Amino acid sequence: MKNAVVLAAGLHAAAAAAQTACSSILVPSYSAPVVASGWQAQLVAGGLTKPRSIAFDSTGALLVVESGKGISRHRFTDNGGTCLSANHSHMLVELTTLNHGLALSSDGATLYASSAEAVFAWTYDAKTASTSGRTRMLVANMSNSDLVTRTLLMSQHQDGTLLVSRGSSDEHEAQSESMTSGLSQIRAFDVGNRSAFATPYNFATDGRLLGWGLRNSVGVGEHPITGGVYAVENSADGVTRNGKDVHENNPGEELNFFGYLNGTVTANQGGNFGYPHCFAVWDASEIPDNDGLAIGKQFARQENATLRDETCASDYIPPRLTFPAHYAPIDIKFAPAGDTAYITFRGSFDRTTPVGYRLSTLSFDPPTGAPVADPSSATALTDVLTNADNTVCPDKCFRPVGLALDASGRVWMTSDSTGEIYVLQRTGKGGEGVFVQPAGKGAGGGSGGGTGEKSGADGRGVGYWGVVVAGLVAGLVVF
Ligand SMILES: *[C@@H]1O[C@H](CO)[C@@H](O)[C@H](O)[C@H]1NC(C)=O
Ligand SMILES: *[C@@H]1O[C@H](CO)[C@@H](O)[C@H](O)[C@H]1NC(C)=O
Ligand SMILES: *[C@@H]1O[C@H](CO)[C@@H](O)[C@H](O)[C@H]1NC(C)=O
Ligand SMILES: *[C@@H]1O[C@H](CO)[C@@H](O)[C@H](O)[C@H]1NC(C)=O
Ligand SMILES: *[C@@H]1O[C@H](CO)[C@@H](O)[C@H](O)[C@H]1NC(C)=O
Repeated sequence: MKNAVVLAAGLHAAAAAAQTACSSILVPSYSAPVVASGWQAQLVAGGLTKPRSIAFDSTGALLVVESGKGISRHRFTDNGGTCLSANHSHMLVELTTLNHGLALSSDGATLYASSAEAVFAWTYDAKTASTSGRTRMLVANMSNSDLVTRTLLMSQHQDGTLLVSRGSSDEHEAQSESMTSGLSQIRAFDVGNRSAFATPYNFATDGRLLGWGLRNSVGVGEHPITGGVYAVENSADGVTRNGKDVHENNPGEELNFFGYLNGTVTANQGGNFGYPHCFAVWDASEIPDNDGLAIGKQFARQENATLRDETCASDYIPPRLTFPAHYAPIDIKFAPAGDTAYITFRGSFDRTTPVGYRLSTLSFDPPTGAPVADPSSATALTDVLTNADNTVCPDKCFRPVGLALDASGRVWMTSDSTGEIYVLQRTGKGGEGVFVQPAGKGAGGGSGGGTGEKSGADGRGVGYWGVVVAGLVAGLVVF
């Protein structure tokens, strides 16, 4: 109770500091997100049109693919912590077919983005915030009816190598059995010194095949220390096993490993990961005829004389890790130290009780570039930002999509369904995580209390005061 008195006395000063310092704290129209211990999160932008992939240019401005619109560029006034507010936004590229992929060359002077059909490139000047020259088509012939994202990743280890991920055509999934269909694949293209007038690569037949039999590997990442390429896979919906509906908790989503781009070919590079025949086990107990099935293995959808679970194990590459069914992983980005990957899960639409809808971390061993968790693990993910109540999703929830880490190590995340951008910062503080809200809104994620935080002129960013005010309103921060 003694603390409560001190809190009340300090309220006005802190509130005044917050109002001048972080005056534009945005409030989501749905329940405040739940933030994990040791993290602070804030909504910093809204009103975007289906924001998908994001990237920082060399001046620190944020580039955003707005699906069906183009690429927008945003500058943020940075008041430290998570206290950021956009001070200038404009459309950099207006092209309505752009729908997901975004990348920058390592010198920052070429911008890449994708539509369902093609990868495009522009000469980009970050200082003048403008593109110049013609729109070049680098890779083409990728159109198909339903799974339409073409994720782009510019390698940081092999200069000029652009990875392009293309999923299945769900309506014609049997086409994914053929390598020349170009469906369900990740390919690497040399775009570094490509002439502006060269004929576009044909996705299906050009480039280097990193893997196929991938239903929809929307998130592609490169381990910063080893250069190992990983992708997170959205597996199929409505899956049956030997005629029984098992779709509620199977198949699992996947993390797959594709080796390195430097010429050292690993065993699985260019191999087939199973789709549309073999799927990752999530809940083995719900799979009939499941002799020996467990997380880390794949099951055949319809066993017959030539395709059995044993065939899945012998002829196809298993996931390196398996995640819960229907979580819908969309992006994977590594922290520079190589110890953590951030993964967005956009959430389910094909499950009785909605799941996913979160930002999670996955631990990696930096020197080997491998996940710490064993392939059989069901608990490899650690949540960072979740929705308060998944049963109201997807309508009243954020849906995580694109990720980018800024120079300060903060994690930026888009939510396409709500048109928003969140910023998250690891505080390392004990107690509950903090969702920054304006004074008077209460602390959405709550605040820990009992953490022994001290106020004063200690160099904290002004964003901190927003947190303090939120905490004060909830009566939880102990000075
Ligand atoms: C907007 O933010 C940028 C940083 O991204 C900063 O350099 C610039 O001064 C800001 N402009 C205004 C008008 O605050
Ligand atoms: C597009 O890909 C298909 C499938 O591989 C192929 O048959 C067709 O020739 C390609 N078209 C072009 C213009 O490259
Ligand atoms: C482009 O070509 C030059 C000269 O051959 C080479 O030094 C450079 O590494 C190449 N860049 C890329 C991105 O491939
Ligand atoms: C490629 O990278 C891997 C992992 O960093 C390394 O073990 C291997 O020696 C490299 N190969 C070449 C040819 O540099
Ligand atoms: C078994 O199923 C696979 C996948 O549907 C099919 O390609 C194969 O022809 C089937 N084999 C037999 C013997 O029916």
